[in-house]
Amino acid sequence: MSGHPPQAVEPADDLVFNEGYEDPGAGLYVASARGCRITDEAGRTYIDLNLGSGTAILGHAHPVLVAAIAGQAERGTLFIRPNRITHDLAALMGRAVPHFGGFAFCNSGAEATMRACRIARAHTGRKKIAMFSGGWHGAHDQLLVEEDYRGNATAPRAHHRSGGIPPEMLDLIMLLPYNDKRAFNLIEDQRRELAMVLIEPAQGSNPRGDVEPFLRRLRDVTRSCDVLLGFDEIITGFRVAFGGAQELYGIQADLATYGKILGGGLSIGAVGARGDVISCIRHGRPDDPRPVTMGGTFSANPLAMAAGRAALSYLEANRHRVYPELNANGAKLIARINEACDSARLPVHANGVGAMFRVLFAAPPIASRRERDAHEAAPQVQKMFYECVMEHGVHVGSNRINFLSTEHGLEEIAQIGDAFVAGLDELRRGGHLPQTLT
Ligand SMILES: Cc1ncc(COP(=O)(O)O)c(C=O)c1O
Repeated sequence: MSGHPPQAVEPADDLVFNEGYEDPGAGLYVASARGCRITDEAGRTYIDLNLGSGTAILGHAHPVLVAAIAGQAERGTLFIRPNRITHDLAALMGRAVPHFGGFAFCNSGAEATMRACRIARAHTGRKKIAMFSGGWHGAHDQLLVEEDYRGNATAPRAHHRSGGIPPEMLDLIMLLPYNDKRAFNLIEDQRRELAMVLIEPAQGSNPRGDVEPFLRRLRDVTRSCDVLLGFDEIITGFRVAFGGAQELYGIQADLATYGKILGGGLSIGAVGARGDVISCIRHGRPDDPRPVTMGGTFSANPLAMAAGRAALSYLEANRHRVYPELNANGAKLIARINEACDSARLPVHANGVGAMFRVLFAAPPIASRRERDAHEAAPQVQKMFYECVMEHGVHVGSNRINFLSTEHGLEEIAQIGDAFVAGLDELRRGGHLPQTLT
């Protein structure tokens, strides 16, 4: 198939080699962040659309979170004993997702999806996990899988995204075509081996608000096959609605993973599940009563629990204002960018759900990441666009998923729109993209 190979992984900011220093941030070292803005070491300020990869829904350094973190730091940060704050946070989560019977806390989204796999396998006694092409569930060996585009799109072939993972681990994974009804037949065929189908209700690689019918059908098929449905709500949880995508679409998953917003800016992960599923943490299953191991030094540490409690308390108390405003601002921005794409007759469009969106450098419709990678403009063209956006004072993260916070007001929305329109204009004027017919 045509198109570009999957883009190289951006330089990570968690790598420092002693033998020589390589500038990982392409010159952007953030010195501080407040509200919807970040400031670099040279004193330049940008409107931030990355927000700690979607974490800072209340903006950076929100006073409520700063007070909660400082207050808990004064009282101690780690006891390796149960603490009440964890129960408060779980109660808030329980009100967001009332059909879940319990939550297990850990320290990152990757840890949460890893634990979710273990819980699903323990509950069902089956070994395979199905995930979707284009998905991202964190950097751990089990789910660090992507589609090998040399295979057939309707029954995706999987390979590991990373070196260092034994190929045998692929036997435990089944890759499904995203946003494609052929996934349902594949699930039905493998039902006896599948413990769980795990899906991001909005994929970061291709965030879209039109997948409700697909998710609903997935719910029906997994239920009729007696396979667990897991929603990876690490981005969508507490973002698209207080109850995440499950509330937005009115679809109840059997199990879900959380992170990002849940930690109020600190490291966190959590798995929530139906009562009969999460109970295997204590009791295993009838034919294998071994409890399912959780735990870890920093799991449910009081500092992250306090920050998370403050964030969720604020969001719960203000949910009737926060979510309609965020979603309306997201829709306004997406519409503005798409109008500019249409009037410049460029094969570019923005797609998203609520206050989360991405610019796709291809004409619509693009149904999946595979289609995106086949049709998108060359990486250098995209880079040119983002450099122009940055010159206009807007920071887009290296993963190019954009998020708004409660601190992005109408003025900032307009400024972001101007910056994206300027980027499109640059592409049009430079003739970097073919113009479409009217
Ligand atoms: C949907 C999804 N799942 C899992 C993860 C992994 O979370 P973490 O980076 O906290 O390990 C991410 C991170 O971006 C994510 O977007």
